[in-house]
Amino acid sequence: MSLGCFLPRGTEGAGADSSRQVRRMGSVSEELTLVPLHQRPELLEACAELLREEWGKSRASRLHTLQRSSDSFPICLLLLQSRGTAEATCQLVGHVRLSRVAGRPHGLFVESVVVARALRGQGYGRRLMEATEQWARARGFSCLHLTTHDKQHFYAHLGFVVGEPVQSVAFLSPSIPTEVLRLFSTCPGANTTTTRPRLPPAPPPPFSPPAAPAPPTPLPNVIWARGVLAESNGHSLLETPHRDAKGLPIFWMKKDI
Ligand SMILES: CC(C)(COP(=O)(O)OP(=O)(O)OC[C@H]1O[C@@H](n2cnc3c(N)ncnc32)[C@H](O)[C@@H]1OP(=O)(O)O)[C@@H](O)C(=O)NCCC(=O)NCCS
Repeated sequence: MSLGCFLPRGTEGAGADSSRQVRRMGSVSEELTLVPLHQRPELLEACAELLREEWGKSRASRLHTLQRSSDSFPICLLLLQSRGTAEATCQLVGHVRLSRVAGRPHGLFVESVVVARALRGQGYGRRLMEATEQWARARGFSCLHLTTHDKQHFYAHLGFVVGEPVQSVAFLSPSIPTEVLRLFSTCPGANTTTTRPRLPPAPPPPFSPPAAPAPPTPLPNVIWARGVLAESNGHSLLETPHRDAKGLPIFWMKKDI
């Protein structure tokens, strides 16, 4: 599979919606650019392949989802790497999809975070997430939400903490304009409740005599166990009370950006 593409020099990441990072590697500079997929339709197939390789699903289904990328969300952002050699080439490094969050006008829901297999473990995942934060911040968003089955330690390492469930609006009709979504939103800082189905109220705890107040202890920010982050902000990263639609444990995480 090739995730490479060719760019005429000087056109890498063109467009108002791209953000760039340049890194010098010896005499060759490496430029990373975060670009909306809908500004680079020639990368649609390569992007579908990147996602299919990781999570399966048919090419047609992937293309269908990717083709819905738009400035009014959901939006697919591509991390592209270009090398400042004689013939500038670019490579598809990673992908992330962002959607609006119901009731949280300043929140975005992050999905389908993936770095090309051959490039993992070299810092690109961090740079993909940092570029995404920068992209979101520049557009007035202040919180990222996500779910993960098994990458909670990666996200905790990047500053995410265990959060509460939220409702992404990725699958509402793309014809619903942002203004309409805002009508259903409360302002950040207002009492924000989730739109998840309500669970029946927990039964009252059995009576027990009041315990002696414990001496105040500072809340640990991070706890390590056997070399992995076990806890972040007082929440376990090893166990979660939440389950996905298939009943699998899933972590909800968020980061103020
Ligand atoms: C998760 C993924 C995006 C990480 O990308 P990556 O390029 O391998 O990660 P990086 O090399 O940038 O790692 C960034 C930092 O996170 C740490 N890290 C990476 N994976 C980690 C993990 N599973 N647990 C804990 N820390 C991790 C790295 O040690 C690194 O730390 P440093 O910056 O302090 O050196 C990549 O592995 C991937 O695409 N996985 C498959 C798809 C997937 O599972 N996506 C997440 C869906 S929720």
